[in-house]
Amino acid sequence: MQKLNNQVALITGAASGIGRATAIRLAAEGAAVFLADINLDGLSETVAALPAGSQSEVAELNVTDSRACNAVVEACVSRFGKLDILCNIAGIALCEHLTDITDEQWHRANAINLDGVFFMCRAAMPELLQTGGNIVNMSSTAGLTGQAYNSVYCATKAGVLMFSKSLALEYAKQGVRVNAVCPGFVKTPLTAAFNMPENADMDLIGKLMPLTEGAEPEEIAAAVAYLASPESRFINGIALPVDGAQTAG
Ligand SMILES: NC(=O)c1ccc[n+]([C@@H]2O[C@H](COP(=O)([O-])OP(=O)(O)OC[C@H]3O[C@@H](n4cnc5c(N)ncnc54)[C@H](O)[C@@H]3O)[C@@H](O)[C@H]2O)c1
Repeated sequence: MQKLNNQVALITGAASGIGRATAIRLAAEGAAVFLADINLDGLSETVAALPAGSQSEVAELNVTDSRACNAVVEACVSRFGKLDILCNIAGIALCEHLTDITDEQWHRANAINLDGVFFMCRAAMPELLQTGGNIVNMSSTAGLTGQAYNSVYCATKAGVLMFSKSLALEYAKQGVRVNAVCPGFVKTPLTAAFNMPENADMDLIGKLMPLTEGAEPEEIAAAVAYLASPESRFINGIALPVDGAQTAG
């Protein structure tokens, strides 16, 4: 059964990993997908992987640019006539000893992981109010528990979580839902490139480690699709861990 027929979804970070898997899943559920990312080549690969007959459009977007975020929402509405679902998935990792983190790394992680979510939600909200739509933001288990050497990333993902919950409250009566997904370890290019900092104390990093081998991006996309669909109409303002019990204890 296609749960998202006649729905329009805008997905950031759609050129890779969880964002790509989400694009494929939402399109398979019947949504028209507007795919945005800084990596245009990756977006083309995502489009090629969409189910036959999918309606799609791509746009180059740097989520740290607020005007570009406004423009991408406008482009989506101009192309498909409306916006029902916003998935903020673009993000970067940063794993370092506190004293080795530069100002530039701090600002970049915050700009992509947190500013970008703010810019996109603000730009999309007037459209979502028209359609009674919803937002799914990509947080992380790093937004739920502290993680050694992951302080900046944790701060950005906790910020995404509280931002999502606050918007859920602010817009609940007006019919727009806002939820967050908190994946544990997912097998994507982001984690393939992941390195512990030099001299890391391995006793401290339990919270970073999956209890099992980690998730496929499609397993996170399934959670996004559920939260984005009318089936979850009464689920609003949650942080959904998809982490194989990593944060259960
Ligand atoms: N992989 C994991 O284990 C994991 C766990 C929890 C949360 N997450 C979160 O899930 C999201 C997706 O991660 P992923 O593992 O699929 O990573 P990924 O590196 O495969 O994909 C991230 C995408 O974001 C895009 N991006 C980066 N900077 C951008 C910018 N300034 N503007 C627009 N797009 C930009 C990249 O081009 C890429 O396509 C991230 O927010 C990440 O923090 C990942």
